[in-house]
Amino acid sequence: ICRGFSSSAVRNVVIKHVTIIGGGQMGAGIAQVAASTGHSVTLVDTNEDILKKAVKGIEGNLKRVVKKKFADKPEAGEEFIQKALQNVSTSTDAGSVVQGSDLVLEAIVENLKIKQDLFGGLDKLAPAHTIFASNTSSLPITDIASSTNRLDRFGGLHFFNPVPVMKLVEVIATSATSQETFDSLLNFSKKLGKTSVSCKDTPGFIVNRLLLPYIMEVIRMYERGDGSKEDIDIAMKLGCGYPMGPFELADYVGLDTIKFIMDGWSAANPDNPVFAQSELLTKLVAEGKLGKKTGEGFYKYK
Ligand code: CAA
Ligand code: NAD
Repeated sequence: ICRGFSSSAVRNVVIKHVTIIGGGQMGAGIAQVAASTGHSVTLVDTNEDILKKAVKGIEGNLKRVVKKKFADKPEAGEEFIQKALQNVSTSTDAGSVVQGSDLVLEAIVENLKIKQDLFGGLDKLAPAHTIFASNTSSLPITDIASSTNRLDRFGGLHFFNPVPVMKLVEVIATSATSQETFDSLLNFSKKLGKTSVSCKDTPGFIVNRLLLPYIMEVIRMYERGDGSKEDIDIAMKLGCGYPMGPFELADYVGLDTIKFIMDGWSAANPDNPVFAQSELLTKLVAEGKLGKKTGEGFYKYK
């Protein structure tokens, strides 16, 4: 374990230039917050259309932030938006932009092989000091990092949806993450205005290890016919004070992401009923009903 053996002679990397790979709901949200807090951000995705949509989404969400934060000062609000947008550039070629990055943070599809291929390739192109991090919901950071030769400069930075609103970041150290890397990731989270918790590289870290079994139990309850979606959602909102009911939240997170997580966990723990699959979830994903992002999941959104 490298953590805990830090030498004061080794300086932490101060993260200023950030490459974020994946411009979906999480990557765009992280880019927005990083740009709003003075970091220069390059957002990478597979094609220009996705990137255009991501930047448009960032602009829309910045307007929401400004409406509240600068309610009495519309000019200062407009300046805040323009400054943040100037901090964001886009690219479809990660390899050509990582040269100038202090941090490469990945928020692409929840698939180990695809994440490994991405980081394995970038490891050869990024400068030695660059820290790599994944926003994975459920995959072991150790397994993703194994495709690189920078195990000491690799960690997890797990954000929550919607990123501009949710205050938490889970910072994950593997057994090989150096104390300097871990401290740099903690400092970066703080600069973004987030509160961080330290996590071990265990399945689901803290939040998802508790949240996913809850969501799956809810789906199974509905499959058994023990309650309607609407009643279960109302019950958990009004009975527990949760801002969203579990079906609303599942649609918000993305049913594909939930399925990817559960596929991995049930394969690794076939005898544990907590990780059992749900026929209904499998069917919805097969039909392309992935939740809010596709206009339909457990509920319809158009
Ligand atoms: N960008 C910027 N601001 C946003 C926003 C966004 N994408 N979405 C909402 N907001 C802001 C709104 O402008 C509003 O701001 P003010 O209060 O300052 O006016 C505030 O957030 C509340 O939004 P709304 O009034 O539109 O709606 P709401 O009160 O219903 O709240 C919500 C929306 C914040 C999403 C709330 O329903 C909520 O907290 N839901 C639970 C979300 C949650 O549990 N997320 C974690 C998911 S698990 C995960 O992310 C981990 C994983 O790996 C799967
Ligand atoms: P999303 O489907 O909204 O976005 C993923 C984006 O990655 C897409 O735009 C896709 O085009 C892009 N992409 C896929 N492969 C790529 C590649 N090789 N190179 C560049 N771009 C690529 O997904 P999301 O909800 O933003 O989730 C992204 C990651 O964040 C996943 O690992 C997920 O588990 C994790 N996460 C999700 C949530 C959530 O609530 N949705 C919360 C925390 C963490």
